[in-house]
Amino acid sequence: MPCRQIFPAILFLDQSGELGGAELCLADIAEFSGEGAAVFLFQDGPFAELLRARNIAVHLATLAKTAARVDKAAGLFAYLRAAPGMMMLIFRGLRIAKDFDLLYANTAKALIVGAVLAFVLRKKFCFHLHDILSADHFSAINRRLIVSLANRAEVVVANSLATAEAFQSNGGKKGLVRVIPNGFEVSRFRTTLRRQPCELTGGIPPGDFPLVGLFGRITRWKGQDVLIKALADLPGVHGLIVGEALFTAEDRVFRSEIRKLAADLGVADRIHFVGFCRDVVPLFFRVDLVVHCSTSPEPFGRVIVEAMLAGRPVIAAKAGGALEIVKDHETGLLVEPSDSHALAGAIHQLLENRRLAATLSESAKRDAEERFGLQGVLEQWKQCIREVTRPKQRYAWQSSTIT
Ligand code: UDP
Ligand code: GLC
Repeated sequence: MPCRQIFPAILFLDQSGELGGAELCLADIAEFSGEGAAVFLFQDGPFAELLRARNIAVHLATLAKTAARVDKAAGLFAYLRAAPGMMMLIFRGLRIAKDFDLLYANTAKALIVGAVLAFVLRKKFCFHLHDILSADHFSAINRRLIVSLANRAEVVVANSLATAEAFQSNGGKKGLVRVIPNGFEVSRFRTTLRRQPCELTGGIPPGDFPLVGLFGRITRWKGQDVLIKALADLPGVHGLIVGEALFTAEDRVFRSEIRKLAADLGVADRIHFVGFCRDVVPLFFRVDLVVHCSTSPEPFGRVIVEAMLAGRPVIAAKAGGALEIVKDHETGLLVEPSDSHALAGAIHQLLENRRLAATLSESAKRDAEERFGLQGVLEQWKQCIREVTRPKQRYAWQSSTIT
């Protein structure tokens, strides 16, 4: 499947060593980009391992702690403290990047590094925007910095219309943006083999009870608390929470809070935390339906598409990219974000009306296979990269000398 000889040599840049959705998306793109491609990471970890396992070259230069601590809410002071660490990284990046034709930043910090490297080395760069630039997630200084650097890119690839619109409403140039969704290897979700689910550390007790899955990293805006509250309205229904607190100390605080919430609401014995799972597919087959509970607009939402491909009925929070994936009452149900009673109502409806659930999930599977198949999405991406890297056409009059 790799696209040898067709692409320029691309150096992808990403700040994370963890397996977030942006990194899983990048792994597919980097593999497709052929032998000339490599990924420059600012942190070691499972993402680096995954890339190496897929024979993708990895260059590692760890970001100094002061710079690694700059988060999406960072202000000016945090940036000033981070400057020396960023400079060191850029310095190391110069030696790596000089051999590539195109730089491709996949995260905000990667954009800062990539834009500077591209400027110094006089190379083209692109930016893949996976986040909705809103005050919910990014400080004003972060938004301004991201938009002004991204406006110098050859192209900004947005994972949804919602992401593209937020970029533009923060001053992003309209003509720069291409909307390309994430793509998925559809055959992974067709398996009928009963594989062993990964280690269920929470231990699901045996028994015949309805099981609702929530897949995704544990962080406040992913709304695991909304599902826990909804299950308090639904005696006998169990919840499977798949994912881990991956990125920040605040994520780990939230993980303790939701465990306490489950205990306080008396539902702890019905909520099963299984931690991060490398292969989520068997767990999709284990649940009766999948909910997506993000309390802020989801930029895209890989887990929603994955659930649809696995043929699970889906209930998603009505905002952001989820609105572009799920058609209400056609391929799933949409509920107001953060409304645990509405979520409980929708879960009840699908558990009671199995025919409706089956009709929605069958349409959803067909729709997701049609729109989000990996090959089709990678073709869109290839077309986009070709357009931006194609040498500008020279006309006869441009090369003629005026005497
Ligand atoms: N995921 C995973 N193991 C887990 C939980 C999630 O591999 O235990 C994957 C999930 O299948 C999806 C990605 O992580 O592909 C999360 O992407 P999404 O776009 O839903 O959210 P993000 O975390 O990127 O905001
Ligand atoms: C980000 C977003 C998520 C999206 C993923 C892949 O992590 O939070 O919504 O699906 O990137 O584009």
